[in-house]
Amino acid sequence: MARILGVGNVTLDIVNVIDNYPHEDQEVRALSQHINRGGNTGNTLAVLNQLGHDCAWAGTLADERDAELIRADLHEHRIDLSAVHTVKHGKVPTSYISLSRLSGSRTIVHYRDLPEYQASDFARIDLGLFDWLHVEGRNIDQIKLMLQRARAEQPNLICSLEVEKARDGIEQLFPLVDMLMFSRDYVLRKGWHDPGSFLQVLRDQTLLAGATCTWGDRGAYALSRNGEILHEPAFKPKTVVDTLGAGDVFNAGLIDQLVRGHSLDMALIEASRLAGRKCGVYGLKNLVD
Ligand code: FRU
Repeated sequence: MARILGVGNVTLDIVNVIDNYPHEDQEVRALSQHINRGGNTGNTLAVLNQLGHDCAWAGTLADERDAELIRADLHEHRIDLSAVHTVKHGKVPTSYISLSRLSGSRTIVHYRDLPEYQASDFARIDLGLFDWLHVEGRNIDQIKLMLQRARAEQPNLICSLEVEKARDGIEQLFPLVDMLMFSRDYVLRKGWHDPGSFLQVLRDQTLLAGATCTWGDRGAYALSRNGEILHEPAFKPKTVVDTLGAGDVFNAGLIDQLVRGHSLDMALIEASRLAGRKCGVYGLKNLVD
C-alpha cells in the first residue's frame, strides 16, 4: 500500500442518462438522474483507494450545501482532507453531464467560480508523508511552484502530471515530473493525430520523463524512459455504458502499478483493462474485485 497525494479538481456531477444525444434546441426527457462526486483528481484518488492505497486530496471546496455530498464521498473512500482549502463563498465546481445510453459518450457543461488551489496552501503539506504526488495541469504558475517545492524538498517523491487540456504554458511543467499522462484532446489540439509520433517527438525535444496517452477505442500508448513506444489495444466491455471518468480510472491504474514497482509495460496493460472495465459499468464504484 502506498501513500498518494492528489492535487486538482473535485466536482459535483449531475448526470442525466438519456437515450441518445439531442440536437441543439431539442427537448428530451432523461431516463434517470444521478448526483455524484466527480472531478479528475477525486475520481483517480477514489479508485486508488479501491486499489488499496492511502490517499489525500489537496484542492478547494466552497462552504455550501453541495460540498457535503462531496465530503461524504471522499470520507467513504478514506481520503484525507486535511489539506483542503475551504472558500467561504461560491459554488463547488459543477458539471452538468448528458450520458448517452446509445453510445456511452458523455457530454459535459462545466461551471466553475471557485479559486484554484494555491502554492501557499500546498506549502503547509508535509510531503515527507507521501510516496507519490499526482497533480492536474490546471493553474500552471501555482502548480509549477508546487512541483518545484516537491523536487527541492523530496527528490525521491515520484511526481505525475495529468495533461488533459492544452492550457497556456503547461509544457513548462513537463521537466518537473517523472510521469506525464496525456489526453487525446491535448494531443489533437497540438496538431497530432498519431499518439505514438507525438510521444516520440516530445521525447526528442524535451522529455526526460515517462509518458502515456489514452486514445479512446484505439487504446493507450506509452513512452518508456529508454524511448520505446508501447501500445495496448482498448479493452472493450460487452457494452459501453458509461465513459465518464475512464481517463481518470486509467491514471489510477497506472499509478497503482508503477508505485508497486511493476514495469511500464505491465502498468499500461492493467490500466487499460481497468479503464475498459469501467466503461462497461455505471459510475466508479466496485471497479476492483
Ligand atoms: C470526468 C470528470 C467529471 C467532471 C469533469 C470535470 O473525467 O472528472 O467527473 O465533472 O470530468 O472536467
